[in-house]
Amino acid sequence: MRVAIYPGSFDPFTNGHLDILQRASVLFDHIIVGVLVHPAKKCLFSPEERVEMISEVVKENENIRVIHFNGLLVDFCRSAGACAIIRGLRAVSDYEYEMQMFSVNHQLSPDTETVFLMSSPKFSFLSSSIAKEVARYGGQIEDLLPPNIAELIRHKFA
Ligand code: PNS
Repeated sequence: MRVAIYPGSFDPFTNGHLDILQRASVLFDHIIVGVLVHPAKKCLFSPEERVEMISEVVKENENIRVIHFNGLLVDFCRSAGACAIIRGLRAVSDYEYEMQMFSVNHQLSPDTETVFLMSSPKFSFLSSSIAKEVARYGGQIEDLLPPNIAELIRHKFA
């Protein structure tokens, strides 16, 4: 069984993340969405909230599971029996950071492959920060976030 981890902060999980996840889910038998617990970074949503809201989005997909993790991604991959890490690439500006992460992960665990999927053009502008900014100022977020997450973020900023 080929298991992959789709890791991220997902604060919050956007339609761009969902696009990558759905496209990755047909390439692997099982995908684990790994929500990073940031020890220092202040997130809008707690790890539990993020896991719960993503679980709601993917509840119909039997081959996707959502859990939070802390520590090194490669250790999480090993403990989950994953052979690959999925990352989305939106633009050239993502490349440097992704290359750096790939290099560290590859150094630490050469057997764990990183698979990059190019973001669909309609989501190439979208990030969690952009979605938060639009939501904070009361803009329209329906096209940016899954419905349950749009609802939750509206409440946060109400
Ligand atoms: O959504 P993000 O913030 O771009 O995701 C970054 C993430 C969670 C993939 C990355 O920060 C990560 O893997 N953190 C865990 C710690 C780790 O393994 N660090 C070494 C690789 S940079």
